[in-house]
Order: sequence, then structure tokens, then C-alpha cells
Amino acid sequence: KRKVILDCDPGHDDAISIIIAASGRSPLVILGVTTVAGNVEVEKNTVNALKICELLELDVPVYQGASGPMVKPSEIATEIHGDTGMDGPVLPEPVKTKEAQHAVDFIIASIRSSKEKVTLVPTGPLTNIALALIKAPDIKNNIEEIVLMGGGTFGNWTPAAEFNIYVDAEAAKVVFESGVPLAMFGLDVTHQVMADKDIRQRFSRLEGEIAIFVNELLEFFGRAYKDHFGFEGGPIHDACTTMYLLEPDLFDMKHVNVSIETKGEFTYGMTAVDLLGTTGLELNTLFAESVDQEKFWNLFEEILISYEEG
Ligand code: BDR
Ligand code: CA
Repeated sequence: KRKVILDCDPGHDDAISIIIAASGRSPLVILGVTTVAGNVEVEKNTVNALKICELLELDVPVYQGASGPMVKPSEIATEIHGDTGMDGPVLPEPVKTKEAQHAVDFIIASIRSSKEKVTLVPTGPLTNIALALIKAPDIKNNIEEIVLMGGGTFGNWTPAAEFNIYVDAEAAKVVFESGVPLAMFGLDVTHQVMADKDIRQRFSRLEGEIAIFVNELLEFFGRAYKDHFGFEGGPIHDACTTMYLLEPDLFDMKHVNVSIETKGEFTYGMTAVDLLGTTGLELNTLFAESVDQEKFWNLFEEILISYEEG
């Protein structure tokens, strides 16, 4: 069983990613959920993480991390995720509270003390991961892989940059230059898993508590995408990371160099994905090019049904 830390900013699609990781179909051992400032302020993301864990009866500790990027001021995405960061479904206030330890210290301590290598799964800005790598470079040897959602060959926050990378490009640079094996799920692949009307209708037939939660998430997320970007269906970006850990064969991966732009006037936060090997730079990233959509949604449906069956 693979040990993972889910580092997130829930987040509609972050929530779905956690649901996948915590399901009966999952071979993952979740050591902890860590939160970071991203979609909304870190405190709100933490409350959402606690609510999701309680809904799933997922008994893992939740640690709060960085309240903003390493260098520049925060930017948030309330137009996509609403004021709470997870608008739409209404979940009870959490009974449990976050742990006292800072997420960065938890990440360091749990990697250091783990007998098996640990996989990090960041689905928000990369601030916590970069801070952990800077503070404790020795942990690199005990990280199996960093499986992240971010970047792509086009942007959604600027024409060149995707939100998670743009928000903390300096952190992303640290991560992509760390030498730790990376698997990157950027917009190229996440826009292939759109929860459009057909998909939403398909899942609206499911009746379990978790399926209802997912339907409410997709409903709000879909509307936000329509209002903001003008296309039908929200891409469930972050879910690609944990789906990959459950079923790597769903995805076509290509080993390439990815470098992070931190200086460009129009390209700050861009992931320069060297698909044709023009740079000769080190192959630091397994880049997800495409996904088998039919198999993806079938597995997702199986996961939702597995919750109904308990
Ligand atoms: C990413 O930004 C957030 O809005 C989503 O949760 C996802 O992690 C997509 O650009
Ligand atoms: Ca996210």
C-alpha cells in the first residue's frame, strides 16, 4: 500500500480527489491531509478539509499550512469556488479540529519517520511542499513521487498560467527543480474530464450520501465554469491525481522537462513543457497527455457506488 499525504485547498475538485483516495477501491494509506492557501484563505480550506473527512468518516489528521505564497501576495479564486471555497453543498460544522502542528512540519516529520517512501499529492499551490523541501532537503530521498495538479500548455488564470502554479510560481520552481520524481496533471489532461450535463445526469441517479455530495459539488462547479469561462461542465482537475494513483493505466504519460517561468511579463507562472525535447534539459516530469475518458468515468462511478455499499 502506498503512503500518501494529500496537500490541498478544498475546493470542489480537491474534495473529489479526497473522496477517490479514501474510497474502498483505493490502495492508498492516507497519512494526513494538509491545507494551503489557494482557492480561498487557508483557514477556510482547513474547515472544508475537516468537513470532508467527517462526511467520509475518514479518520486522518488535518494540518493547516501556509497562509500565502512564499514571495508574492495571495490571490484567491472565489469566482470558481464561492466564498467558503466549497460553495454549494452544506455540510455540518466539523466536530474535530485541526492538529496543532504546522503542515510543513508534519510533512517533514512523517516523511523522515516513514519506513516506506511517501508520495505527496498536492492539488493546490505548491507552497507547503516547497517550504518542506527547503527546510529539510534530506526528505527528498524518502519521497516516492510528487503527483500534482498544476500547469499545462495553456492557462486558466492568465493566458499562460494555470491557477495553482501562478499563485506560487516561486514554490513551483523549487518543486520542479528538486530532483524528486514528478507526475504532473495539467490542464491538457484535466480538461479531458469535464463534468458536463451528461456526466452530471449519469451520477444524479446515484443515491448515496457521498454521491449526493458529489452531485452538489459538480452542480455549483459547473455553473461557476459556465459563468466564468463560458463553457459547459467543470473539469474535475484535482481528481486526476488520485485516479492516477488508483489506476495509472488510465493516463498516457510522457517523460519530459518542465521548467517554471517566474520572470515573464505575460508568462509568469507558466509551465514550459518541452514536449518535443528542444531544450535538452533533464527529464524531470511525467507529464499527463491524455486520459481514457470512458474508463475514467466508469471507475469514478464504481467509486461512488462503493461508498453506497459501505
Ligand atoms: C486548480 O485550481 C483550483 O481552482 C482547482 O481546485 C484546481 O486545483 C485548477 O486550475
Ligand atoms: Ca485545488
